[in-house]
Amino acid sequence: MSPALQDMASTLLIVNGESHRVAADPFRPLSDTLREGLGLTGTKIGCEAGDCGACTVLLDGDPVCACLVSTAQAEGCVIDTVEGAGPGGITDRLRAAFLAHGAAQCGICTPGMLMAAAALLARNPAPDARAVEDAIGGVLCRCTGYVKIIEAVLATATGSSANRAEQAAQSEAPIPAVGQSIPRLDGWAKVAGAELFGADAAPADALWMRVVRSPHARARFILGELEAVKALMPGLEAILSHADVPGENSFGIFPHLKDQPVLAPGHVRYRGEAVLALVGSRAAVEGLADSALPIQWSVEPAVKGAEQGLSHDAPVLHAFAPDNVLARGHLRYGDVGRGHAEAAATAKGDFTTAFVEHAYIEPEAGFAERIGDRIEITACTQAPYMDRDEVARVLGIAQDAVRIRPSACGGGFGGKLDVSVQPLLAVAAWRLKRPVRIIYSRIESMASSTKRHPARIKAKASADAAGRLTAYELEGDFNTGAYASWGPTVANRVPVHGAGPYRVPNVWNRTRAVYTNETPAGAFRGFGVPQAAIANESLMDDLADQLGMDRWAIRRANALATGDTTYSGHVLASSAGLPQCLDVLKEDWDQALARCASHNESSQRRQRRGAGIACMWYGCGNTSLSNPSTMRLALRRDGTLTFFNGAVDIGQGSSTILTQIAADAVGLAVEAFSLVVGDTDLTADAGKTSASRQTYVSGNAARLAGEALRARILKLANAGPDARLALSGATLSVHDGEVVRTLDLPSLPAGEDGTVLEGTGSWDPPTTGLDADGQGMPYGTYGFAAQIAEVEVDTALGTVKVLNIIAAHDVGRAINPVLVEGQIHGGIAQGLGLALMEEFIPGRTENLHDYLIPTAGDMPPIRTYLIEDPELTGPYGAKGVGEPALVATAPAILGAIRHACGVRMTQVPVLPHRLWAALHGEEGRA
Ligand code: FES
Repeated sequence: MSPALQDMASTLLIVNGESHRVAADPFRPLSDTLREGLGLTGTKIGCEAGDCGACTVLLDGDPVCACLVSTAQAEGCVIDTVEGAGPGGITDRLRAAFLAHGAAQCGICTPGMLMAAAALLARNPAPDARAVEDAIGGVLCRCTGYVKIIEAVLATATGSSANRAEQAAQSEAPIPAVGQSIPRLDGWAKVAGAELFGADAAPADALWMRVVRSPHARARFILGELEAVKALMPGLEAILSHADVPGENSFGIFPHLKDQPVLAPGHVRYRGEAVLALVGSRAAVEGLADSALPIQWSVEPAVKGAEQGLSHDAPVLHAFAPDNVLARGHLRYGDVGRGHAEAAATAKGDFTTAFVEHAYIEPEAGFAERIGDRIEITACTQAPYMDRDEVARVLGIAQDAVRIRPSACGGGFGGKLDVSVQPLLAVAAWRLKRPVRIIYSRIESMASSTKRHPARIKAKASADAAGRLTAYELEGDFNTGAYASWGPTVANRVPVHGAGPYRVPNVWNRTRAVYTNETPAGAFRGFGVPQAAIANESLMDDLADQLGMDRWAIRRANALATGDTTYSGHVLASSAGLPQCLDVLKEDWDQALARCASHNESSQRRQRRGAGIACMWYGCGNTSLSNPSTMRLALRRDGTLTFFNGAVDIGQGSSTILTQIAADAVGLAVEAFSLVVGDTDLTADAGKTSASRQTYVSGNAARLAGEALRARILKLANAGPDARLALSGATLSVHDGEVVRTLDLPSLPAGEDGTVLEGTGSWDPPTTGLDADGQGMPYGTYGFAAQIAEVEVDTALGTVKVLNIIAAHDVGRAINPVLVEGQIHGGIAQGLGLALMEEFIPGRTENLHDYLIPTAGDMPPIRTYLIEDPELTGPYGAKGVGEPALVATAPAILGAIRHACGVRMTQVPVLPHRLWAALHGEEGRA
């Protein structure tokens, strides 16, 4: 215990049945005292404001946000945290059910969920779903859509279900593993509160870091004498500025676009940009006010919105982009003018979307250590190898002198593809030769991290009298904010997807990513495709209306299918299951329409119901770029079989899914494998966890690694291809028909690390570059889906309640159906937020009480259909589902709103004031 703590008041805390005397500031939040004072890091901190509920513990049996309870208030109280068994062992029972039902994805909300659920079951052993929703309503989850969490709580309440859940959680995984809903392999740590996220561990002697950020969107500044300030603050070790960056003071996704400084060099381009970094004791870095720092600001007019960025009198924000256009995208196919001219119906629209915040519950956090002439960084990330390369540039050292060891990642959704804490930690630890840690506050995380691009999309679609599309064109401007991040990717991906998953003979899509002085926009689940789908699907509804067609029918008439050619000229050789998705939804669609008609029969009703349908497609992997993955399996002489897997699992379950694939390829049970994930010193580059690529791309690499290892085993045992393997300790048995051969692993020649047999697999999806008109083969395969939404609109208030979502997704092959369903549920929740709730406004909605994301109470029942149209190039037929889960939801909801009340909304989110204005004739009435 530090001397500072010893000086503090001693508080009695009774935690999980044990009494502790803790020396802590009585005003410290209980969450902080539990974590830093008692080392109980199972209690997570997501906002420090009582908004997210991640820190929920039980205080004398009642659920409370531990961040809102002072340590003194908890004196003598009985405290239950996730590390304990809970009242009457309820938490332990919930754990098993959460595991079996796939209720924990990234796991950062899981401790809070478990505690909220434990409090419920302690007072109400037989709750219904509504009671569960109410009980967990104060705990936010950004991954699951809450569906499986509620299932797990109900299963715990009903003994028989709980028993089944426990059996499933504890039983051995079946062989073959592919297609089985085995519990996630990293699940136990998540439900036990033992998973270590970025903020949960650091060397005991680590210094703390706090970043001083710009309060202005565009300004120049002059720094005064920093050393003098440092001398005034005991415990402050350094105030780092851009001058302290030893290598290049810049980072960015693309080799030619390192346009964002680690620390601003005299001018800033957005509110929240890093200016200085304070390093020292926690008390010092938290105690020094920004206003005490000698920064002389000269504020300049800021450019807000892409339209302003494109105006002729806008200031140039980056010298290399004199028109403020970062990137352009383009696709031309056929003759769009002729296509419109030949049409029986044409629809147009002008659509607007907002900045959307990822709102992962885990703020960015981690620590760095300098070890000789190397640097090691442990932090949450989606892209360890990209982090490694950026840190090396910033420090001016070789890439192999940087080691990235990803912590558990408490949600990413694209927002942790860019570096955040990594270069700052690296500079501090390198300069000071001391370990340094940092934990972003919620506000800092939201102010500084990338967002979904706000878009303005003008689109026009035409169809013949039978509803067959004849032409589509789109012009989209995407506000990329102050720095490039993934702006070029958005500009390039949207033209390829912009006309939707349909056969369109004539297409002309154009996009621009435009610099402004707003928060950088980057990758967010879909890379611009969700915005384009809102425009596209709205126009499909327009065409159906004009032609007097059913909205399902017009989509079915145009749906891309196997053998079709896309408007980028790609022939879909296999797995294009959109027709199957639509077919499986037809009965649900008819029933939804009938339900709405029945409800709306009385025209007096203030609440009007409507149904909407939307389709989507999404190319798995990088657009027209090589994006390989390499996996390795090593069998050691002691019988340990290690899967070296460089693909970080950000909650979606890739560690489990890739192991299932590898296990079947080798022919051994999943339990035989131990995992090393994402460590750049130990694993090969698997590429980033994004673009719905890990199951498809890394899955193939895992399959090839498994097949390579199996081939070596069979060759050594002189066995045929159908031989069955069994690993017991250091003995590997090969059952080849009636013949059993045993390999005594310790007797085999071994490498330095004891490896006696290994298999490596690398795979890069089959893509080609795109020509000047965007023609080629941009992806190896595509995910397809169709979703139905039913809503109820309160026409007096302008509010929308989503009553029901039915989703059909072509996933090629569901390697782990429960995990696939979990992805779909979570994507739908984010799509609902995009449609109805979420609008990030820099400087105004930088916290989780002004920026709203769906709670358990906002989520409707969700029914999913998994369509398995096998992808011939996919591992066991599989393809990605991460992004596809989200894309169709918002347009389906917009279609349902329109069906309910006749209003065609063209701006999301459809906030009540916007819908009210449209309903009352001020805008948007169709
Ligand atoms: Fe709930 Fe990730 S599992 S936030």
